[in-house]
Amino acid sequence: MKIAIMGAMPEEIAPILEKVKEYKTIEYAGNRYYEASYKGVELVIAYSKIGKVFSTLTATTMCAYFGAQKLLFSGVAGAISSKLKVGDLIVATKLAQHDLDISAFGHPFGYVPEGAVYVEADKELIGLAKEVAKEMGKPLQEGIIATGDQFVADEKRKNWIGKTFHADALEMEGASVAVVCDALDVPFFILRAISDAADMDASFSFDEFLETSAVESAEFVMKMVDKLVC
Ligand code: ADE
Repeated sequence: MKIAIMGAMPEEIAPILEKVKEYKTIEYAGNRYYEASYKGVELVIAYSKIGKVFSTLTATTMCAYFGAQKLLFSGVAGAISSKLKVGDLIVATKLAQHDLDISAFGHPFGYVPEGAVYVEADKELIGLAKEVAKEMGKPLQEGIIATGDQFVADEKRKNWIGKTFHADALEMEGASVAVVCDALDVPFFILRAISDAADMDASFSFDEFLETSAVESAEFVMKMVDKLVC
């Protein structure tokens, strides 16, 4: 089995590379991919760079070029739900693109013809995550994640995204990764640890908590890998 572990920023995959210790670096399409053998399974690990376009390229490469059969995304997000605080973990049940807008033609936000507003994450991987959370004694929230090419640091925009997509958290890559994996029939899982509240203090909070929240998420994802291999 080959498992892809993806992040958007170096900080999001650094704890994973540390854990696998030995890996081979492959340069492809302007990015670096790290291949490792871990407890008898093959891993391909990469950060995409921020945003929907780069994450689309990386997810596609991991699945179509490297042949990943499952994709686990680890990273940080801004909270919409007041139940989510810095450091909390959220797993996406489904994801939507909050900045996809052809509403001028009467379509709902996040929708284009032949697409869908929401893409659902793999239920088995979510089930596995719940088992891991229980074993680790860690609270894990489930919810809708909204994605867009925008760092949201504005209460009004955040509330609009929350209301329009019933979203609990927001970030900049999950839904594009979801579209790719859905199209290529690769089961996927998007985990995020909260770094900020997508409000006027978001950029300060993000800078302060990026690293610790990224570690929270990465450690959880590696526990999932441990469970997938046994
Ligand atoms: N990732 C983490 N925090 C975010 C925010 N406020 N907006 C977009 N992506 C994020």
